[in-house]
Amino acid sequence: MPNRNNPTALVTGASSGIGRELAIVHAQKGGDLVLVARRKNLLDELKEEIKKRFKVKVTVIRQDLAVPDSARELYQKVEEAKIRVDILINNAGFGKAGFFSKSDLKLDEEMIHLNVVTLTALTRLFMEPMIERKTGRILNVASVAGFVPGPLQAVYFASKAYVVSFGESVANELQGTGVTLTTLCPGQTTSEFATRAGATKIRAHKFPAASARNVAEYGYRSMLEGRCIAVHGVQNKILVHFLLRLLPRRVVTDLCRRGLEEI
Ligand SMILES: NC(=O)c1ccc[n+]([C@@H]2O[C@H](COP(=O)([O-])OP(=O)(O)OC[C@H]3O[C@@H](n4cnc5c(N)ncnc54)[C@H](OP(=O)(O)O)[C@@H]3O)[C@@H](O)[C@H]2O)c1
Repeated sequence: MPNRNNPTALVTGASSGIGRELAIVHAQKGGDLVLVARRKNLLDELKEEIKKRFKVKVTVIRQDLAVPDSARELYQKVEEAKIRVDILINNAGFGKAGFFSKSDLKLDEEMIHLNVVTLTALTRLFMEPMIERKTGRILNVASVAGFVPGPLQAVYFASKAYVVSFGESVANELQGTGVTLTTLCPGQTTSEFATRAGATKIRAHKFPAASARNVAEYGYRSMLEGRCIAVHGVQNKILVHFLLRLLPRRVVTDLCRRGLEEI
């Protein structure tokens, strides 16, 4: 934990799913929070819930992070509020199912902006003062999808491959600085994700999903330990660390497509 009482964590995508649970886990440890997303009503409700249960400060910032310059705007708002961010949690993200040739290009661009551009910019902006202070934690939420090509969710899988590669590189560069970057890779998790992605009818959706709470607790713990890559769940670990390395890439791509097809 960064060496300060009540370290402040900024959590993007805190209005639902894994981000909401990450915020609660941090508050349970006695840390202050900055909650960011677009649905301010949900952030305000979470703020009230957290303030009732824990003695921590909670700041809500409404920000659409899928539009140009949104990372800089958010950073500026945090600066103006004179909040020192000790822990950055880049969790906000979304996916979309369907053939790339028929995709909504504007939505794809927004997805890349949120999942890739904003995550990169927030990491860069918030890491600098952390390095100056020689202490800080960054948690970027990728996915098991970051380790495989994903036909029928091509842009989403590619965006998460970026998050994995970027995270491993920057974590390596950060060695010896007192700052760590952990990339959390959940498998299927219960949240609003699948409904919003239009992916509730795909084959893989029938497999059991982890709870957002379990994923958040595991991710938060891995971040405090300063781990580089944190794949959630035994089956996902076996998949990522063994099976995907043994099977030919073409076979992996075909298998993945089967999982992502509607049934
Ligand atoms: N669920 C899964 O199976 C799964 C598996 C692996 C990885 N993940 C990753 O886990 C992360 C969290 O997803 P989740 O499963 O918790 O899904 P979720 O319940 O849909 O939560 C997504 C969060 O991102 C926020 N968000 C979306 N678009 C945004 C935008 N333009 N600007 C700001 N915030 C935005 C949403 O808030 P607003 O709509 O209020 O803005 C929401 O709080 C994502 O990065 C996702 O890719 C999920």
